[in-house]
Amino acid sequence: MRKVRASIIGFGSVGQGVAEVLLRKDEELKSLGIDLDVVAIADSKGAEVNVAGIDLKAALGRKREFGTVAIDDLTGEDVIKSVDHDIVIETTPTDIETGGIGLVNMVAAFEFGRHVVTSNKGPLALKYRELVEAAKEADRKLLFEATVGGAMPIINLVRDTLAGNEIISVEGILNGTCNYILTRMMEEHASYEQMLAESQELGIAETDPTYDVEGIDTACKLVILANSIFDQDATYQDVDVTGITKVTLESLSLAHDEGYVIKLIGEVKKDRLRVSPRLVPVSHPLAVGGTLNVASVCTDLAGTITVTGRGAGSIETASAILSDIISIYKD
Ligand code: HSE
Repeated sequence: MRKVRASIIGFGSVGQGVAEVLLRKDEELKSLGIDLDVVAIADSKGAEVNVAGIDLKAALGRKREFGTVAIDDLTGEDVIKSVDHDIVIETTPTDIETGGIGLVNMVAAFEFGRHVVTSNKGPLALKYRELVEAAKEADRKLLFEATVGGAMPIINLVRDTLAGNEIISVEGILNGTCNYILTRMMEEHASYEQMLAESQELGIAETDPTYDVEGIDTACKLVILANSIFDQDATYQDVDVTGITKVTLESLSLAHDEGYVIKLIGEVKKDRLRVSPRLVPVSHPLAVGGTLNVASVCTDLAGTITVTGRGAGSIETASAILSDIISIYKD
């Protein structure tokens, strides 16, 4: 049995989802030979540290009751630097301008010889090359399936299952908020503003929803895909981005009458990264509705593989994080 000590840095929706999933999957992890203890949790107000292992149920309860896990006056970065542990589960919110505390935390984790599993898109969309190099230098892993498509497998699908294939393109819907807005505007004949408010209530929109509707969130995901698939060093500035703010109910209805839906499609090719609203025939595999994400991977050997799944949500995103943790330790 391998003893693993983890920290959860960022205890919002995704971090709490990870705690819940770790509680639920303790037996399964043990059956894979992984005895995982969370020894520190940090949120924006402080941290809880217990080298003998935190009672996750109590920590979740305290977060819900008091809005914080804080017992110790430590930041996430302090925890990463001062608490002895093996893996940092980095689930702080995305900051696409600077990479924010997520970037600071990841750099610190490698400096102190810890693996990183993350759902935070900002650092990877801005500093992919530097982070990969830092991980390599520290001989640690940096895994980030949760940054693109939530529970929908895409990064590891391409890297592992489709290994050896030439990847010609990936295209699909990588933002559940935009898909929800466009689907529901058509279904309900409702306004864009109304549906944006609904998607915020569902908790799938970013804290700043302009990231979603202006295509920035999708663009970040394309950059992460492009860099990990083609080993590029693209950044957000390399993406040609148009969001959904100018898609009207009239245009959705006109498209519908002709047998099409309008979807915000992200496209990754070696020489092109593009996000734009596009007409998709209703029977096309990319024409999924609601909050779903979908991605079609076009390859030279395997043909086209299409996957779909829940691109956001606390437990769904935690599912991708769990699989990354297992992939580090199962062998
Ligand atoms: N705001 C994102 C979405 C969350 O709507 O897909 C997952 O990255």
